[in-house]
Amino acid sequence: MTESSLPVITLDGPGGVGKGTVGQRLAQRLGWHYLDSGAIYRALAWGAEKADIDLSDTQALVSLAKKLPLRFAPDPGDVCRVIYQDTDVTGQVRTESCGRSASRIAAIPEVRAALLDRQRAFRQPPGLVADGRDMGTTVFPDANLKVFLLADPRVRAERRVRQLNDKGINAIMADVLQEIRKRDEQDATRRASPLLPAEDAIELDTTSLSIDEVLNRILELYRKKTDRPASGR
Ligand code: C5P
Repeated sequence: MTESSLPVITLDGPGGVGKGTVGQRLAQRLGWHYLDSGAIYRALAWGAEKADIDLSDTQALVSLAKKLPLRFAPDPGDVCRVIYQDTDVTGQVRTESCGRSASRIAAIPEVRAALLDRQRAFRQPPGLVADGRDMGTTVFPDANLKVFLLADPRVRAERRVRQLNDKGINAIMADVLQEIRKRDEQDATRRASPLLPAEDAIELDTTSLSIDEVLNRILELYRKKTDRPASGR
């Protein structure tokens, strides 16, 4: 099987829509690999800050992006660990301030281009679930199934507050909602790979769905699309 014929399911959509949780569970169910592309942008932003790189210094960002000392480590819980130069930075990269910086550097086309190969390298047997903003449009345009997740901004803000609180991070609903709206606007209006569903993506509104319901719908869509049982094992 060539690399490009390995199955890929892409999950794109705005922040707080549940891509991460759904993506990881989906990958577990199928026995596939999982790519959290947002964590790559976050790790780059974090690394740039540590290296005193100005977030508008495209050349320095590109050079760091090309040799980013980042790896993911599996975690028995839901979150996969983000390891930067042998240090676990999972908590640090998840903060709103790191998300804001990630969104800023993600708007630079040269930075996006420098991270393309690294993301595509996650396409390994037996398959990949990739979550982000441009997985179906740019990174894996030949994916077998492309899902674009949507949810009301209020519901997304509530989910994010819960997620942050669970990690012991204090978060205020009004601030998170404002941040989500700002990031949506920034991600959707940028010129490089804006947050948009691929033409052949299936839109799924998760506002009133549980994680399990979203998961089952995606497995069903994959089964229908490929005419295969929804299990990779
Ligand atoms: O998904 P997450 O919130 O971790 O992503 C952080 C930021 O990284 C997003 O706001 C977005 O600007 C950027 N991103 C991106 N393309 C991706 C994944 C994330 O531009 N594929």
